[in-house]
Amino acid sequence: MAPETDLLPGGLHRDPAKSWTMASRYYTDPAIYEQEQEKIFGRSWFFVGHESKIANPGDYMAVDFADEGIFLVRGRDGVVRGFFNVCQHRAHRMVEGAGNVKVTLTCPYHAWAYDFEGKLRTARGCQNVDGFDKGEFGLKTVRVELMLGLMFVNLDPGAPAFREQYAGLEEDILRWMPRAGQLAFAARKDYVLKANWKVVIDNFQECYHCEPAHPAFVDMVAMATYRNKTPATYWSTQTSDKPQSNASSAYAFEPGDVDFGYAGYFIWPNLTIWLMPGEPNLMTLQMLPDGPKNCIEHLEWHSLDGTLSEQGKSAVDYVDEVLQPEDIALCESVQMGLKSRGYDRGRFIVDRERSHISEHALHHFHMLVMQHLEGGEPPLAQAAE
Ligand code: FES
Ligand SMILES: [Fe+2]
Repeated sequence: MAPETDLLPGGLHRDPAKSWTMASRYYTDPAIYEQEQEKIFGRSWFFVGHESKIANPGDYMAVDFADEGIFLVRGRDGVVRGFFNVCQHRAHRMVEGAGNVKVTLTCPYHAWAYDFEGKLRTARGCQNVDGFDKGEFGLKTVRVELMLGLMFVNLDPGAPAFREQYAGLEEDILRWMPRAGQLAFAARKDYVLKANWKVVIDNFQECYHCEPAHPAFVDMVAMATYRNKTPATYWSTQTSDKPQSNASSAYAFEPGDVDFGYAGYFIWPNLTIWLMPGEPNLMTLQMLPDGPKNCIEHLEWHSLDGTLSEQGKSAVDYVDEVLQPEDIALCESVQMGLKSRGYDRGRFIVDRERSHISEHALHHFHMLVMQHLEGGEPPLAQAAE
């Protein structure tokens, strides 16, 4: 093991070849889970869905995360705005789920009504209250930014802008999927896992397991061209320049817009984006914490016309029926192992060539976790080749 003096807070080394993985307690301890809510999810850009889900003025959707409730609503000017989901009268939740309102957002408790910009419009009886100023009781705003139609929110007013923190990401996605900005939400699947959300990100961050665990994936994607890159602090990529086969055991597709093998992105803290071969598409798979030993995954598929074509359905079916069950079984087994007295930390298998089996992007993720939880330093970004 590296000399103690080289270790960063949390016990990692900045060089993946010298580092150990983060300790098991980070995946099991309820106190660490609580800290994550504030130090990670309370301060980071959090994906909430594609803007096509709230396409019309008055469309809204509620999202709960980081022990907080927020909602998004599209204004008459077409702008998507975010608010804390709490009425300024007596703190009742403003909306549940998703829907559309024609005129105002009305609180179910005493019917205070707000416009789509969060301004208080009516509060019955307020004219009888000394000095009551409706201007002081607008809904509290939450920051929203869009990238390629994907909506992100941040609870921290002091956080850097999404565009700044994730600089280069949009351009990188467009290089692989030129029409990524023209897509719309088409289909969704949910998964309930007996594994900490970070186990599932760990699983995404390396393809060392692809050959042993994903026979159909390596039949579809040319592993010789598969590369895992960490060109930025807050995102990383896995790409394969060409498909191994257009008619693999994963699914068949016609080469066209997307004539490559696969491009995957990890976007700190808990979003992954998958660009699959075939028609223009963008799949999001988000790992949502649900207690220290459980998480929920949301898979959302986006296509040009917002419907699931035959080929899109084959891709989703492959992920849903083959790839996800393969990965979920691995993650649930790892979660069991992480609480064993027989394990605490492992090493990262990395190589200088950054070959397809190298686990340097997994180390990059562990560095980000330690940066947020233990005040460690951010991971080093490696210039793209
Ligand atoms: S709590 Fe919303 S109107 Fe009273
Ligand atoms: Fe996997």
